[in-house]
Amino acid sequence: MDSILVTGNGPLSGTIPIAGAKNACLTLMPATLLSDEPLTLTNAPRLSDIRTMTELLSSLGAEVQSLQGGQVLTMSSHDLTSQRADYDIVRKMRASILVLGPLLARFGQAQVSLPGGCAIGARPVDLHLKALEAMGAELDLRDGYVHAKAPGGLKGGVVEFPFVSVGATENALMAATLAKGTTVLKYAAREPEIVDLASCLRKMGAQIDGDGTDTITIQGVDRLHGATHPVVTDRIELGTYMLAPAICGGEVECLGGRIDLVGAFCEKLDAAGISVEETPTGLKVARKNGRIRAVDVTTEPYPGFPTDLQAQFMALMCTADGTSVLEETIFENRFMHAPELIRMGANIDVHGGHATVTGVERLKGAPVMATDLRASVSLILAGLAAEGETIVNRVYHLDRGYERVEEKLRNVGARIERVTGQ
Ligand code: UD1
Repeated sequence: MDSILVTGNGPLSGTIPIAGAKNACLTLMPATLLSDEPLTLTNAPRLSDIRTMTELLSSLGAEVQSLQGGQVLTMSSHDLTSQRADYDIVRKMRASILVLGPLLARFGQAQVSLPGGCAIGARPVDLHLKALEAMGAELDLRDGYVHAKAPGGLKGGVVEFPFVSVGATENALMAATLAKGTTVLKYAAREPEIVDLASCLRKMGAQIDGDGTDTITIQGVDRLHGATHPVVTDRIELGTYMLAPAICGGEVECLGGRIDLVGAFCEKLDAAGISVEETPTGLKVARKNGRIRAVDVTTEPYPGFPTDLQAQFMALMCTADGTSVLEETIFENRFMHAPELIRMGANIDVHGGHATVTGVERLKGAPVMATDLRASVSLILAGLAAEGETIVNRVYHLDRGYERVEEKLRNVGARIERVTGQ
């Protein structure tokens, strides 16, 4: 198993290109199942999660071609051979559930393995299922699979989510494009990845209004056609790399970055004493002199502070001047990075959904264990600011969501290398 060796060092400077969004790409890829014409995605990230979705779509009989080193994906679902997503693939990645809505909408039936729990909480799929039921789907849960049928096709309906779910909104949105009549999604997620999905679906001929607000209206159409679509910038990768100069000092420009993708996060950076400037090519982040100020954060659905940046922000707060409280409201078990940061000398007290972080002058390098995707990168960020060497083990989590992390950070002056395991 590979690990990452980070040696703490001084200020960073240079540019980091930000890739297309993993989470957008993972919902755009299943959209291919809605049409028998090809869907091409450009600006795709090169990540193991994308390869898992490729494997899943291929297992259904879709043709997926990865071009230009993986940055362009051309998919065709003309000759699908199966509507069954097997446990062996689904268990690797929760986002596999996103094939359910499209398969059901186009073929009137699908069987998808239930994804099961994951490291950051129980993460059920009940909202996905209720949304499809509101569109007339008949669902039966047996043998660990969702057996879904819509014999006469899905019908438009009103879906009122009890709370915001990104994945359930995506599944319902895709399914509704081919349902008969009008579907209204109330209390829908407003994440940029939803807007990106809606924009791609419109290029395919879907009729969608209101994406980016909490009420999305979809007028079903008989069929969708092919399209080419660039994947939106990864706001989580962006926020992560914005934290590198914030933690180490220096000035780094994140190419392709946009304030509107990370507004709430930038407000917190500003409060902590980090400057963020829009440039014609991205966002320039600088930390001049002095210590970071402690800032409280509460995670919320977009446009609030993203849960996917909470671990990385905690790494920043570890050396802030004062005490900050980080509140996690989206996932019940998302502080697993805290004990690892404590091994590096951080002063953190976790109590329920809150973590109280009292900044220390300097962290110290240590061997640490990555427990999930965002936790692993928070340990790398902490290692950049620590005295001595930090070894982050189990980096397969990292490879699910960050492409060429060592190269991107090395290019701005970080001392970081991958140690290849047996
Ligand atoms: C997506 C992102 C993930 C991010 C999360 C929240 C992808 C591939 N992943 O995950 O990186 O952290 O949004 O921004 O896009 N829930 C239920 N029942 C359901 C669905 C969700 O109870 O049927 C709960 C979840 O357990 C969680 C909350 O709702 O507590 C929000 O989850 P959701 O927005 O659905 O997250 P994902 O789409 O899985």
